[in-house]
Amino acid sequence: MNNNDPILKYLHQQRGAYISGSELASRLGISRVAVWKRIEGLRKAGYDISACQGRGYCLEPGSSFFSPPEVVDRLQTTLLGQEMLFFPRLDSTNEELKRLILQGRASDGMVIAAGRQERGKGRVGRLWESPAGGLWFSLYLLLDLPLQQLALLSPVFAVALAIAVNKFLPVPCGVKWPNDLYCQGKKIAGILLESSGELGATQQLVVGAGINVNVAADDFSNDIRPKSTSLLLESGQILAVEDVLIAALEAMEEYLGRYLQEGWTNIRGEFKELCVHLGREIEIHRGQESIAGKNIDIDELGQLVIEQEGRLLKIGAGEVQTIA
Ligand code: BTN
Repeated sequence: MNNNDPILKYLHQQRGAYISGSELASRLGISRVAVWKRIEGLRKAGYDISACQGRGYCLEPGSSFFSPPEVVDRLQTTLLGQEMLFFPRLDSTNEELKRLILQGRASDGMVIAAGRQERGKGRVGRLWESPAGGLWFSLYLLLDLPLQQLALLSPVFAVALAIAVNKFLPVPCGVKWPNDLYCQGKKIAGILLESSGELGATQQLVVGAGINVNVAADDFSNDIRPKSTSLLLESGQILAVEDVLIAALEAMEEYLGRYLQEGWTNIRGEFKELCVHLGREIEIHRGQESIAGKNIDIDELGQLVIEQEGRLLKIGAGEVQTIA
């Protein structure tokens, strides 16, 4: 389904308001039955269009839909998102982007976004809940970087997303190592980086970001509801997802540029300032293993530095849990 459909564009411009079938019909020069058929087609494709007898059709104000050309017009980036696709429904934007890469149809900086994901991928093989209303997108990057430097892009993009998301939050969010965003003790966004490429050759990177924008408490499953939050829940405002996407891509381009020019040192300082567990007692889980201690630093390689009974431990992978 083409997301430049004029019905969709019109409903999006008037989002939240009901437009009658006859108004749509006369604007488009088609019959009301033809409008109804097109709306049914859009709904089948995954767009959340409400219909109300006597009032007409409405695209919900918190809907994830946006029109890529309008976003690209507003976007102040030179590379990130200059090519952009929106799908009302996908298995996973990371997976769709990888399919496009295999078909040779992806270009550097390309962004794929979805209104909802049916099999959203989280870190360590977990499922990422991606209901309508959230911002689910993946970014393609071609980079000539050694693997160690590539790994640091995780915390670099976490800082960028925190800066972007904080533009919409009354109480700022922070980062949890290596790349989660937390607000008032609850997860609000996460990043999943997947890379492929021969050692020493250009790396193909898929940066997937999930930001809970207009996600209501009831949209989270019972499992994750107590530990998840959203921009809607924190700010009480329904936001236009494209505003958050624009802020995210602009910040990601800025931080990627800074990282490639200056390296990790300055961004490391920002990460530490935003870090929600630095200076606290934490537990790090990796598979069956767990390590407890005080998190005293994030080092020059992006590793967690833990003090445990007078010993210093450096940890490069795992899941952090704050215990004090
Ligand atoms: C995490 O576990 O914290 C990472 C979550 C990453 C989710 C995003 S949503 C867009 C992109 N597509 C996916 O399937 N996953 C990432």
